[in-house]
Amino acid sequence: MDTVSKIREKLQESGLDALLVTGAASRRYATGFASSAGAFFVTRRSAVFLTDSRYIEAAQKAIPLAEVRCVTAAETYAWHIKQIMEAESIAAVGFEEEAMTYADYQSWKEKIGDVLRPAQKILTELRVSKSREELDALKAAQAIAEEAFNAVLPLISTEMTERELAAELIYRLLRCGADDISFEPIVVSGVRSSMPHGVPGDDKIQKGFLTIDFGAKKNGWCSDTTRTLCVGEPTAEMRKVYETVLAAQEAGIAAARAGISGRDVDAAARRVIEEAGYGAYFGHGFGHGLGLDVHEAPTLSPSNAEPLPAGAVVSAEPGIYIPGRFGVRIEDVLYLTEDGCENITTLPKHLIIV
Ligand code: GLY
Ligand code: MN
Ligand code: MN
Repeated sequence: MDTVSKIREKLQESGLDALLVTGAASRRYATGFASSAGAFFVTRRSAVFLTDSRYIEAAQKAIPLAEVRCVTAAETYAWHIKQIMEAESIAAVGFEEEAMTYADYQSWKEKIGDVLRPAQKILTELRVSKSREELDALKAAQAIAEEAFNAVLPLISTEMTERELAAELIYRLLRCGADDISFEPIVVSGVRSSMPHGVPGDDKIQKGFLTIDFGAKKNGWCSDTTRTLCVGEPTAEMRKVYETVLAAQEAGIAAARAGISGRDVDAAARRVIEEAGYGAYFGHGFGHGLGLDVHEAPTLSPSNAEPLPAGAVVSAEPGIYIPGRFGVRIEDVLYLTEDGCENITTLPKHLIIV
């Protein structure tokens, strides 16, 4: 089923007359077209994509599902939408409350009336379960990321800085076919590896753990991978921490399937870390959904008691971070089915010593 038909089904269920899609990732999801400006207005009878002159020609070619109209200074987004609302007697319009600023909300309200109703749930539910084509697109992004990672591995040395390694990685992600990075890479070494979201620094890579967290975007779809290497020989304690994180990740992966709650997957992994005595050093959740956004629904953490949907693509990224000493995170990406999950990350997970 195409996305317009899927949205119309949701309109029917929710009693709304129309959906106003304004967030960049949701617009891309619903239309297949990427632009920095636009609005997609889907009613029970019509589907109109609005954008400005910078994108109009490309949009007209790329969006077969909808009528594409150009906004101008006189015929604004609100003007077009008001025309459709009047023609179709529309009174209740769902909107993306998580993607719209308060200022934009006030401005829409002033121009089209008090008709906007929170409807993020519609897009979240549609985007969370990936189709076969969407899964293939995510795998394509993952494959690019893995090729880039393998290309930088031989370059790693204590003669380069964390920032230089991050730059090499970004260059290779783009050279290997990424349209963009899905987030700024995290490259942290030695004592700095205890910072889960540390920023690459200008000092040379230190001996000890080296955590690299990175992602490619391909056609808008994101990858997200973390590997922790060791520069020089690890101590027995470092090996124990690494093996504990790996065992926790494997326990979470073994538990992960559609129908179980995000909380229960998190708990399966967290238990392993707690039993090894490191529970206080695993501060974040086990994972998160990813797709056209690198962080999207669902959440695999103690706060999510809801069953995970079939077709969700989620990260599996436990870690142990001991402040002032070192940290380890290992992150793969899973596709959830009723029976279990498919791990779409293929990079090895044994401790690589460089
Ligand atoms: N560094 C982003 C993430 O792994 O979620
Ligand atoms: Mn990551
Ligand atoms: Mn992640």
